[in-house]
Amino acid sequence: MKLWAGRFQKETDTLVNDFNSSIGFDARLYKQDIAGSIAHAAMLGRQGIIEEHEAEKIIEGLKTILADIEADKVEFSLDNEDIHMNIEAMLTERIGDAGKRLHTGRSRNDQVAVDTRLYVKEEIPTLIKLVLDLEDVLVRKARANLETVMPGYTHLQRAQPTTFAHYMMAYANMFKRDVTRLEDCLERLDECPLGAGALATSTYPVDRFQTAAALGFKKPTDNSMDSVSDRDYAIELLSALSILMMHLSRFSEEIVLWCSWEFKYVDLDDAYSTGSSIMPQKKNPDVAELVRGKTGRVYGSLVTLLTVMKALPLAYNKDMQEDKEALFDAIDTVELCLPVFAAMLDTLTVRPRDMARAAAGGFINATDCADYLTKKGLPFREAYMIVGRLVNLCTKTGDTLDTLTLKDFRAVSSLFDEDVYQALALKTCVNGRRVYGGPAKDSVVTQIELIEKFVAERRAEC
Ligand code: ARG
Repeated sequence: MKLWAGRFQKETDTLVNDFNSSIGFDARLYKQDIAGSIAHAAMLGRQGIIEEHEAEKIIEGLKTILADIEADKVEFSLDNEDIHMNIEAMLTERIGDAGKRLHTGRSRNDQVAVDTRLYVKEEIPTLIKLVLDLEDVLVRKARANLETVMPGYTHLQRAQPTTFAHYMMAYANMFKRDVTRLEDCLERLDECPLGAGALATSTYPVDRFQTAAALGFKKPTDNSMDSVSDRDYAIELLSALSILMMHLSRFSEEIVLWCSWEFKYVDLDDAYSTGSSIMPQKKNPDVAELVRGKTGRVYGSLVTLLTVMKALPLAYNKDMQEDKEALFDAIDTVELCLPVFAAMLDTLTVRPRDMARAAAGGFINATDCADYLTKKGLPFREAYMIVGRLVNLCTKTGDTLDTLTLKDFRAVSSLFDEDVYQALALKTCVNGRRVYGGPAKDSVVTQIELIEKFVAERRAEC
């Protein structure tokens, strides 16, 4: 029999029953639901809304349910629609009438809001920790490759020389912003909606400050209608996760390119790549590709929730039950991708000689050649034109700038001297870029130290 049987003259159609039910995917909120109910029952007892001994009985009953769920002794029922009604029904079955008093002064609308917030609040530190672990790998790879020169690209055309360390720290900075976005999200969601009731609180002397504190929230939310209709915290988390996945996906794309024969900048560890069922020579970057693919799934969750919420009038609407699968799937996906990606990166081998070979072609020292002339007094635009002519010459003769003779150089400008070869050496080009944030060894060491400090500060807080 349904809780609302008093109002109805017919049983719910089985189609509707199944359609309406969320227990299949919200069962994972059992811990948060029980924590919320314990805080609520304790407050009801303390405020004299129910008898203290009944509150105690409820709390004891809830604890036994928690233990049984954790011991896998509980079967949830579709008839009880969701995790909230399942646990309430189970409680009444176990402790009798006292169980029927638990729902005094609350609604499933504030209940589901508090459960989901608690869930997200617990997951964010886990997500942050996984990003910090990835930062450790990036720092390790960077430290080991401070002098590994490789081409930097624009438009995927070789552009200017950089190092693998500088490259790694570019990603480290993206993931640093991801951590701060997750922290912002956590900060803003840290308010407790419990006690908002269906939408307009209740006539009981419910103390929302008590329940907020008991559940570890900074304070209760300030408006009860907003409390039950707000899913911003889930959308914010999904946005932060989408951006994080976008970073992982860009990185994955680079790894896919880098381990192709066209680049061969890196070798994936055998344990982090896969073979082909037909082509014996293949070693495929499946992990990177799957991370890239799963990015679409996380974006999908964000768009799902934005679309579900669009145009919903206040306050709770059943549409909002659709928030959970998208939210859980995105969290699960990111928690799945981060460790495997970090391990793949950690175990890949860098091929400095192949990077240097690529850096030696493609005229990535052309800007440096123009700068050489500029430092000898020529305006940059004129120097740029002269080097353009040299590059044009090289493309015809199959030379690179470094293989031209001094005579070739002098033919276009008398400012060229023997020291041009030193100026064009890739190591000089990289280490000459000592500007803050640049690829010179000292600059990159500063970047590494900043990330190490950022990571250490977060670790100290946990
Ligand atoms: N299972 C519901 C959800 O996830 C709980 C809230 C139901 N509230 C209601 N008024 N029907 O949204």
